[in-house]
Amino acid sequence: PGAGEGGARTAATVEGVDLQALAAREGTPLHVYSATAIRQRMASLQAALQGLDALVCYAVKANSNGAILRLLAEQGAGADIVSGGELWRALRAGIAPEKIVFSGVGKREDEIVQALDAGIARFNVESRAELDLLQRLAQARGTVARAAARINPDVDAHTHAKISTGKSENKFGVSIAEARSWFESAAQRPHVRLDGLHMHIGSQILQLAPIREALRRLARFWRELEGAGHRVASIDVGGGLGVRYRAGEQAPAATAYVAEIRAALAGYEGLLVLEPGRWLVAEAGLLLTRALLTKHGEQRDFLVVDAAMNDLLRPSLYDAWHDIVRLGDNGGREIVAYDVVGPVCETGDTFALARTLPRCEAGDLLAIAATGAYGASMASTYNSRPLAAEVLVDDGRHVVVRRRQTLQEMVAGERSPGEWQWT
Ligand code: LLP
Repeated sequence: PGAGEGGARTAATVEGVDLQALAAREGTPLHVYSATAIRQRMASLQAALQGLDALVCYAVKANSNGAILRLLAEQGAGADIVSGGELWRALRAGIAPEKIVFSGVGKREDEIVQALDAGIARFNVESRAELDLLQRLAQARGTVARAAARINPDVDAHTHAKISTGKSENKFGVSIAEARSWFESAAQRPHVRLDGLHMHIGSQILQLAPIREALRRLARFWRELEGAGHRVASIDVGGGLGVRYRAGEQAPAATAYVAEIRAALAGYEGLLVLEPGRWLVAEAGLLLTRALLTKHGEQRDFLVVDAAMNDLLRPSLYDAWHDIVRLGDNGGREIVAYDVVGPVCETGDTFALARTLPRCEAGDLLAIAATGAYGASMASTYNSRPLAAEVLVDDGRHVVVRRRQTLQEMVAGERSPGEWQWT
């Protein structure tokens, strides 16, 4: 988006669509996504992967709206899923099962069966218990499941503790020693073809050094396996590439990232899988919200907006920074340090502390930036706030890709006493 602080008049358009008009028409809070921005990211990643046998499996959890999935599928993306629900969404969006990989530490039996029946490309296996379960379920169906061992390379991704996954104390993956034993005992599991390696060390990674180190450990294990006669047909390097949330941050370029992969895996000729989520969609999104009121507290100035932690959880959950801009004419406005908060009854329902903004009034429109990933997908109806609408903008036009949830839809699954059947 062209939104930026500073100038007297803050440019308030996304791909030529005026955000004031959009908010007036579709209401707030409103998630807005730029199709072009997503296509550009995907295209630059595909360009960087040129010449490699590579598959980009978009991490559905980042933004699982069907419109986003279709957009990425059109650009050749497959899907990295972590639940039966995400499998269902991916298939529904037209993503071929051969382009779907299934990650996650706690796959349920019914989810595994669902994925086996769909014929997905590969299970990223995270424990011996899961490996044995996969063997049992594939055997029962008379099929062979393809699997990759998710190794935990034990590197520090230098990111927020709650989104770091590649240290040995994290619940994800298994040690190289454990994975080695799986390959050595593969003959005991004839219904699992274990011929892949997988890792994912964390999210919002801005420096390539931890990725380089993890790739080095992964590559060393791959070479060892090949040396021992185990063919590795697929190497999945996970996702985790970070984006710019605030000044001074910079999303790593696709070329620089892929150069690390090329260097670490020199000589490897199998399939390369990548699972980016955030990097593809975060910066393509923003959350439009209106000021409800300002409140001059004894210690702080509060700006209460109509979006809340149920619409965008990241600031509450990770103290994450998102740029916030006041849209409209800011000329001559005094700068005020606001605590930008939502209406939810929790102190943690705070988007920013002491954030400097042009003085705001009730009705002002604000944009919270870089909310395309882990925004709508982490939303809830907490405080009985219906899910916000989502809009896709493409080349001067917009379309509602998820309408605002109605109150009736919010309670659709609840049963009134007249319908109760005690057992
Ligand atoms: N692959 C696996 C196995 C994952 O667990 C994840 C994310 C990804 C790929 C995609 O990661 P990305 O490229 O988006 O960093 N809710 C948090 C992020 C949680 C990420 C969980 N796993 C946030 O809002 O920062």
